[in-house]
Amino acid sequence: MTGKTKTIVLLPGDGIGPEVIGAAAGLLQECSRAFGLTFEMVEMPAGGCAIDRCGSPLPAETLDACQRADAVLLGAVGGPRWDALPIGQRPESGLLALRKGLGLYINLRPIRMRESLEEISPLKGERVENCDMEIVRELAGGIYFGEHRVEGANGSERAVDVEAYSTPEIERVARYAFERARKRGRKLASVDKANVLSTSQLWRKTVTRLGAGYPDVRLEHLLVDNAAMQLVIAPRQFDVIVTSNLFGDILSDAAAGLVGSIGLIPSMSCGTGTPLFEPIHGSAPSLAGKDCACPVGAILSVAMMLREAFGLGAEADAVEKAVERVLDRGYRTSDLAGPLSTVVSCSRFTAMVRAELEDSLVHVERYGWGV
Ligand code: NAD
Ligand code: IPM
Ligand code: MN
Repeated sequence: MTGKTKTIVLLPGDGIGPEVIGAAAGLLQECSRAFGLTFEMVEMPAGGCAIDRCGSPLPAETLDACQRADAVLLGAVGGPRWDALPIGQRPESGLLALRKGLGLYINLRPIRMRESLEEISPLKGERVENCDMEIVRELAGGIYFGEHRVEGANGSERAVDVEAYSTPEIERVARYAFERARKRGRKLASVDKANVLSTSQLWRKTVTRLGAGYPDVRLEHLLVDNAAMQLVIAPRQFDVIVTSNLFGDILSDAAAGLVGSIGLIPSMSCGTGTPLFEPIHGSAPSLAGKDCACPVGAILSVAMMLREAFGLGAEADAVEKAVERVLDRGYRTSDLAGPLSTVVSCSRFTAMVRAELEDSLVHVERYGWGV
């Protein structure tokens, strides 16, 4: 991408969103200075703050700017201030409209156990060491995008949420997951509830049919209840998991807990439009404004953006290594605190990652990459 300016829309959102996006934007600045790249960052309102400022969780100007950008980086949306709003008017519906508006039907969530954080995993070392999986979550369909309605009133309501999946919707995300598995450990676990749901029966049938075209990938099917249990007792068995929108949302938070904190996990959403990068955590209202949130998920989302959206693999590696080095030295935000660690603030942690990145670049200038 040398010489070409990339436009990145920043959507800090609510709660700790602005703090972690501040950290990630700082890293992007560091990258552009250090690698001689030009990023134009444009901040726009989305989520609860956009409801307050513009009357909509996804103002038309925000969606338009995202559609024209090269990538979008989002913090988190939502919080108690907007909790009384009905579905469809809430901050979260702005995020869903953004995903839909950008045609993002794939959400990739990498979950990896870092050696230096094994001491804080809720699992014993041997069960979780070297655990490394990717969750491919369907993002543009399922119960999230079916009809939501409430009938009746005053204590005799009936609420309805509709889950629907079509063959092409399943095929496109499953193909992506098979390709992902092919480049890794060649194992794909498809997770559904085919013993109860007809959407899941179609899911299983479609994934099985596609599997015939990937004889090098070992495909297995798990019911979601068993998958949740397997994740907790033996997470190392998983390589790539592919599942529906709702199951992927739930299983990825559980997997994040296994490797230390939800604050660590980045994600990439892609499909037909501008890719979106975001940490998987929410707005963590109780931490907001305290400069104590873990910025790693947001910073690693920047690394995913560099690698996947801009083809800057070496630069992405440098960001990931900088994070790794700070964690290895025992500096962590409070969610990652352990017997051998020093707790630092979000901004201090970020400054240390920036300093590490700067150091590694001095090294690159002198000796070249990877030396
Ligand atoms: P949450 O992810 O905000 O918090 C869950 C738990 O993890 C809390 O204990 C929180 O303190 C902790 N946590 C989260 N991120 C952290 C970080 N970076 N560093 C340290 N600790 C962290 O989920 P929730 O409490 O269920 O939801 C709060 C709000 O966020 C809700 O309004 C929800 O809808 C919204 N939400 C938004 C997104 C998003 O924007 N992508 C994702 C999830 C939840
Ligand atoms: C996530 C969040 C969102 C989701 C909410 C806020 C709409 O939980 O990104 O994981 O369920 O997709
Ligand atoms: Mn979630």
